[in-house]
Amino acid sequence: MKSLKDIHDAARADGIPIMKDDGIEFLKQYIKEHPEIQKILEIGTAVGYSAIQMASVREDIVIDTVEIDPVCVTAAIQNISDQHLSDRIYVHHCDGADYVTMAVYDLIFIDAAKSQYGRYLEHYMDNSHEGTVFIFDNLAFHGIVDNNELSQNRSTVQMAHKILKFRNDLLKDERFDAIYYPDKGDGIAVAVRK
Ligand SMILES: C[S@@+](CC[C@H](N)C(=O)[O-])C[C@H]1O[C@@H](n2cnc3c(N)ncnc32)[C@H](O)[C@@H]1O
Repeated sequence: MKSLKDIHDAARADGIPIMKDDGIEFLKQYIKEHPEIQKILEIGTAVGYSAIQMASVREDIVIDTVEIDPVCVTAAIQNISDQHLSDRIYVHHCDGADYVTMAVYDLIFIDAAKSQYGRYLEHYMDNSHEGTVFIFDNLAFHGIVDNNELSQNRSTVQMAHKILKFRNDLLKDERFDAIYYPDKGDGIAVAVRK
């Protein structure tokens, strides 16, 4: 049975792109400071590390988390079970752009396919309420969004352009009060629905 540290270390060793440590701390601190956050939707489970960390903030937190990769789904279900959190974290094997639920969430954490962030945002608007916070990671994309020269790869640079457009659109979107934190995680935006 793996400890939380084992899950973290194994994911790093296996090259699973779990959130950076300071990003996780930022996310947990945000949840700590907002006791009204109880229902969380996460898009991009990987091996369940961020979901387990979010659930560890308070015992009243319940999480639906969506993952497309079946190998990750199996690992996440095992890790969540090892942490005795199977009654509060539900893993859904599905494309994040297709998951449909009637549930309404207090926090929607988007951490899956970067090119789909705009699509996820629109898809999950119906699952939000006034005050729901959307949190997005990887809006710096390893610094490449703000400095394209860091990559020689054409498709990576195209992805960076797409992320930049999403980020700029989000910050201008009148449906939200949005703030971008370039130095947190891999560039985190917090957008609270008005
Ligand atoms: C950055 S990782 C998530 C890390 C996780 N949130 C953590 O910090 O522990 C992104 C995950 O999104 C998954 N993913 C990619 N495209 C997806 C999609 N269309 N729908 C759902 N999950 C997707 C990947 O398989 C990967 O496991």
